[in-house]
Amino acid sequence: MPINSRTLHHKVIEEFKRIYTDAPDIGLVRAPGRVNIIGEHLDYNGLHVFPIAAERNIAIAFSPAGGPEVCLSNIDPAFGERQFTTSGDIEHYAAGDWGNYAKASVQALWGWAKEHQSEALPLKGFKGIAGGNIPKGSGLSSSSAMVVAVALVMVKVNALNISPIDLADLLAHGERYVGTEGGGMDHAASILSKAAGALKIDFNPLRAKPVPMLDDAVFVVANSLVRAEKAGSARLAFNTRVVECRLGVQVLKALARERYPQVESAVVLGDVMRSVPEWRSLLNIIPEGPLSLEQISEISGVSVKALADSCLKLRDGSMLDESVRAFDVKKRVCHVLTEAERVELAAKAALDGDLVKLGELMNQSHTSCAEDYGVSCPELDVLVETLRRHGALGARLTGAGFGGCTVALVQRNTCNAVIDAVWADYYQGYALRAGLDAAAGRDDIIFGCRPSAGAQILDVSEVASLRTGV
Ligand code: GLA
Repeated sequence: MPINSRTLHHKVIEEFKRIYTDAPDIGLVRAPGRVNIIGEHLDYNGLHVFPIAAERNIAIAFSPAGGPEVCLSNIDPAFGERQFTTSGDIEHYAAGDWGNYAKASVQALWGWAKEHQSEALPLKGFKGIAGGNIPKGSGLSSSSAMVVAVALVMVKVNALNISPIDLADLLAHGERYVGTEGGGMDHAASILSKAAGALKIDFNPLRAKPVPMLDDAVFVVANSLVRAEKAGSARLAFNTRVVECRLGVQVLKALARERYPQVESAVVLGDVMRSVPEWRSLLNIIPEGPLSLEQISEISGVSVKALADSCLKLRDGSMLDESVRAFDVKKRVCHVLTEAERVELAAKAALDGDLVKLGELMNQSHTSCAEDYGVSCPELDVLVETLRRHGALGARLTGAGFGGCTVALVQRNTCNAVIDAVWADYYQGYALRAGLDAAAGRDDIIFGCRPSAGAQILDVSEVASLRTGV
């Protein structure tokens, strides 16, 4: 059994008290992972997404440090202790090290404080014990939940006066410290979600609107058991998609500028979509198939060098790996623009209480993610099909893809039956035959979930009294 969130809170507090016997002012924060219902790979294109906060969290028990030192460990000994000093220019750990997420958060808040609350500098650090029940590497954004949880600790310890929306925006940029090009969905969902609703999130500027979700709707999250970490194995593929979308902007500008001169100022695909009402007609005239940088230069009229500088450079300053030479602009653009339209329809379906329609849109989204965006894998496709066959109204991959989890919409009264059937069919059948590792235990691999509230600074005395029944 995974530990439930209440037990998790007790565990981190108890471990904290055991290690830091005389620490004053113990605090507790929790930050949920997210499950994206629909709107995949849209956030970094400046287009809306539709996630919920999962009922799975990262929690940190903490106490302020006297100086700028951060010392963070985890109840799971697989994550060793990490120590560093707060500053505006923190040296990285090796790529893939979990401590980089804590550093990303601290460095981002330092930058914010420098601009908005300089009297808080140098930022105080903290001693903390973290723990979590979000399955790792499954596309539910446990890493962004860690970034958010550390940020809440820093906000509390340093009495930083930052609004939730500014914090979400700051951390979305701040997480690029780890070298991925993610958009802002994960942090916004973790911080801004409200219980019982999904969040329709818009970017540039960040805005979030809760959309109530029928009580009858339960989201079954199922792990394909293929690990895909966006700072690890999936990083190149993820970053390549980001680059392909930027190249897509250049191609679309060339195709549209004569009729729609306003497209000239577009920076992301969302801008193109907003400035070209007939964007659908553009999709037909983008040349088919993967294109080389030279071909894109010819179509767009932008030199190869200028394309490399503006599109291939990643936000951490490095260039996209030169092994990537072909860019499937048409398919990527096609996914992004049609997916944005599906998000709009999905939010409407949720508002209308039309779960059948919402499910259909989720199915279409999976097809588009798989066929046009190229972010599915055989295991995800089998799992999605298995979920549908056993009664889900709709099912799709969720998060970056390349492995990780699927999300399926089911009616509350069928939830357990769907989970049982998929367990027998996919996990005890297909996955077993494929040699996929299901060691995590059933409730960490497939579980039902309802929209939960966003990240919080919790009252430790309340957590303690729940335990003792005081
Ligand atoms: C990752 C990123 C998100 C988003 C999704 C795909 O989870 O962190 O910002 O781009 O992939 O929708």
